[in-house]
Amino acid sequence: MIREKLKTGIPALDEMLDGGLIPGRPYIVSGTSGTGKTTLAMRFLLEGAKNGEHVLYVALDEPPNEVKANLRSFGWDLSGVTVFDATLDIMSYDKTPVRDVSSERKPVPMKDLGDSIRKTPDKGPADMTVNTLQEMLKQEMRLKKYTRVVIDSTTSIERFYIRTSEEYVLMQSFFRLMTDLGVTSILTVQLPEVAPPTPESRMARAEIRLHRWFDGKGMNRGITIEKYRGSAHDDRLRQFKITDQGIEIRLESTKKSREPKKTPPVELEGAQHPAIAPPATSQPVAAPSSDEVAPPPPPPQDQAPESASPPRGGEGA
Ligand SMILES: Nc1ncnc2c1ncn2[C@@H]1O[C@H](COP(=O)(O)OP(=O)(O)OP(=O)(O)O)[C@@H](O)[C@H]1O
Ligand SMILES: [Mg+2]
Repeated sequence: MIREKLKTGIPALDEMLDGGLIPGRPYIVSGTSGTGKTTLAMRFLLEGAKNGEHVLYVALDEPPNEVKANLRSFGWDLSGVTVFDATLDIMSYDKTPVRDVSSERKPVPMKDLGDSIRKTPDKGPADMTVNTLQEMLKQEMRLKKYTRVVIDSTTSIERFYIRTSEEYVLMQSFFRLMTDLGVTSILTVQLPEVAPPTPESRMARAEIRLHRWFDGKGMNRGITIEKYRGSAHDDRLRQFKITDQGIEIRLESTKKSREPKKTPPVELEGAQHPAIAPPATSQPVAAPSSDEVAPPPPPPQDQAPESASPPRGGEGA
């Protein structure tokens, strides 16, 4: 029996997910670089921390000090997040199967993180494998009952291992571990806008996909739910924004909204992603939820963006 869904911290995303994420399962947030994966994943952790849950952020891409500094502009209180710095030491990027995450490192509260990036140890990288990272997670779970875990990113995990034949097995063991630990996890995946299905996409119980594309005037962002096993979900591309307030998603029409909005539609600058269907101007417009801003509705789709690529089709639930 499916328990009550977990809120992601972004009400419009919860609506796209028909209420949120089914607890205890692993999910992915995918997209090209700079689409907002880390921001969305951290927002998910903060929602748990706000409710007194233990939440863990495993940094594999960016030094966590930098993540903390970058998120400062949103004014988020990160003090309830525990962080594990699993970033590779620069010196350890070589042609051998890379096996470094210093064994001396331990998860620490985000608030105790200093401003400077951890130095590469003089004596060289400690011998730690991805297996050791998994062991750390298990051990940490024995000490504290985490409910939400973010692995940022699996792309970096794959880079631990040079032999591509291991990729599938490695990812499978990671997803298995997340399920065994009983946590609700978000694993971020760096992917080009158009990409064949990855092992992560196949194993994840849902895939939230972030899109970014340029038109003649500037950058556009979008979000889709590519799949969600065991749940209904939104099947449209929605506008996604990152502002000083954090993440905003625009749902221009929902079943909950019955009242037509009184303000007339405003022209949105720039062309749209081809998959954003133009809303009928007579359609009801959703009232924005408390922490979201409703941008103007997009204009009719009369011009395809120059460099836009359509998102992958949903893979079904
Ligand atoms: N205060 C802000 N206001 C507006 N946009 C912002 C703000 N802070 C960050 N951004 C946007 O968010 C982007 C970075 O988001 P984030 O780090 O979550 O992306 P990512 O998908 O994790 O990237 P990567 O794959 O490189 O790790 C920036 O490139 C910028 O466009
Ligand atoms: Mg990131």
